[in-house]
Amino acid sequence: MQISIFSGSPRKTGNSSIIASKLEQEFTNLNNKVTCDIIKVSDLNIYPCTGCESCSNTSRCVIQDDMLEIYKKVQLSDVIVFVSPIYFGSITGQLKILIDRFQPFFAAKYLRKQPIIPSSNNKIASLIAVSGMDKQRFYENAQEIIKVFCINSNIKLGPGLYLGGVDYAGEINDKPLLKNKVSELAQLLID
Ligand SMILES: Cc1cc2nc3c(=O)[nH]c(=O)nc-3n(C[C@H](O)[C@H](O)[C@H](O)COP(=O)(O)O)c2cc1C
Repeated sequence: MQISIFSGSPRKTGNSSIIASKLEQEFTNLNNKVTCDIIKVSDLNIYPCTGCESCSNTSRCVIQDDMLEIYKKVQLSDVIVFVSPIYFGSITGQLKILIDRFQPFFAAKYLRKQPIIPSSNNKIASLIAVSGMDKQRFYENAQEIIKVFCINSNIKLGPGLYLGGVDYAGEINDKPLLKNKVSELAQLLID
């Protein structure tokens, strides 16, 4: 089983990083057949979609950057987890740029009627969001973006997690009850 965890925070030792590592540890403890990669989105060289519409005719993106590897990874992954801080009520800009670059998946499915990921598959995606304040609507807003990614890519949206009231870098380590929810989610996602 192949799992990709996309960590959307630019803070190297922040809460999302800690959550992503905890998740990886849980997945590999639960199933020794799991191969898990953590992708730190802010370490990648990803340009924003320019809306050129080339993909409407080809189902491919003309921009040659680190997205080439990300497209492959998503196609090969059984479980895809996005871990993001809430920035201004949504996911981070870095993660949004990556998600917007899935426009070729939209074009392939809806315009060219030849989906890149076939509609019958067992892939599942999930969102873990962490934020300074504890406002459920932040999570709902962020999840809406992941939902659209899932619809366009033919991936089922699975259960997720909102960890509100976690602000300074590393604060998740001081909240073991919240951190334990990550273990529970790992189990749900690979059951
Ligand atoms: C640019 C920026 C915008 C933020 N916007 C929000 C927000 O809208 N709501 C909120 O509750 N927290 C907000 N925060 C706080 C982060 O969500 C919080 O610090 C989180 O724990 C950071 O996660 P990280 O350690 O993985 O980077 C913001 C932080 C930054 C740097």
